[in-house]
Amino acid sequence: MDDAGALRAELADHLLGDGVLHDSRWLKAFRAVPRHEFLPHFYRQLHDGDWERVTAAHPDWLELVYADRVWVTQFDGDDTVTGGTPTCSSSMPTIMAIMLAALDVHRGQSVLEVGTGTGYNAALLCHVAGSANVTTVDVDSNLSRRARERLHRNGFEPTCVTGDGALGHPGRAPYDRVLATCSVSAIPSAWLEQTRPGGLVVTTLHRPIGAGLVLVSSNGDGTGEGRVLAEDGRFMPLRAHAHPPALAGEGEFAGEGEFDRRRTTLPFATATDPASPFEFFAGIALSGVVAGQDRLAHSDGSWVYHHGSHVDQGGPRRLWDAAEAAVEQWRDLGEPRRQDFGVSIRHDGQFLTFGDLHWHL
Ligand SMILES: C[S@@+](CC[C@H](N)C(=O)[O-])C[C@H]1O[C@@H](n2cnc3c(N)ncnc32)[C@H](O)[C@@H]1O
Repeated sequence: MDDAGALRAELADHLLGDGVLHDSRWLKAFRAVPRHEFLPHFYRQLHDGDWERVTAAHPDWLELVYADRVWVTQFDGDDTVTGGTPTCSSSMPTIMAIMLAALDVHRGQSVLEVGTGTGYNAALLCHVAGSANVTTVDVDSNLSRRARERLHRNGFEPTCVTGDGALGHPGRAPYDRVLATCSVSAIPSAWLEQTRPGGLVVTTLHRPIGAGLVLVSSNGDGTGEGRVLAEDGRFMPLRAHAHPPALAGEGEFAGEGEFDRRRTTLPFATATDPASPFEFFAGIALSGVVAGQDRLAHSDGSWVYHHGSHVDQGGPRRLWDAAEAAVEQWRDLGEPRRQDFGVSIRHDGQFLTFGDLHWHL
């Protein structure tokens, strides 16, 4: 076995050992598909926040490629810059494996992937479903072209499309499975319309607080029912679903205009740390709110500055009051975890559900 093969086997064993790969078909796919062919270069963030371009000439390139890590491959939609807002990456293999397992795809089923990126995930899909059954779409024509070349060079021949994945790809519909490897603030109706009744859509919800990985079963008429998965999934948003980077300047918050100061016993991280069991529910109360290290902001001008034992709140709404009320409600509901919530996609709206309760996505 060559070096790449050995590292690949190690990565697959790691995914198996961690319990994210249960299915022998995906184990074989992760063992077989050469991730390094899809990552001739990527960017690694250094401790000082700067980005380093890592190419095959770098002594650690191959080892890094096969680490269970997300690798950024493009910033600001521009292939020539190093640094900025990431617009393409090869996702963390653990998350890929979780999403692929949830997709429950079988050989011969037709699959649409939204977000071709490097092409690595498409190659895994081809390995399991068969190239002829895979369609993959990316909005960026350069990424799409390069992914197609790399896929072909490695013996995978899915249908690669350049276009807005929010529209699905009607030309090859209906699909049995739709997998989005970029996140959405609401599930595009085209995905459900182009999925056969009983077919599955797997995607991540783009919510700055309380992001979620969801699995929806299509009714075939643009509606569907599903659930939030136990695993957390944070993906870069579908272009156009990105929120403005609301936490730009600090001056925007603390001390600007009128504000209230009061004591609080709710730690900031309880509401905002993805590892906190309350964070998913906090995302419902704090819909559209972006979190920094110790502050919150909403595009309506509301803000919170959390000082540990007290908070400053300004703007039209008191966001920390909302967070504290949400903790109370969450406790009354029995402290549900993300996987206890349902997802309901109806003609009159998209909702997260818990028992009789529902909230707009
Ligand atoms: C996290 S990357 C996908 C990773 C990819 N599956 C892989 O294996 O490398 C997200 C991708 O979504 C693409 N994307 C963003 N907005 C899109 C849209 N509206 N339609 C299709 N693709 C989009 C980006 O160009 C980027 O390549």
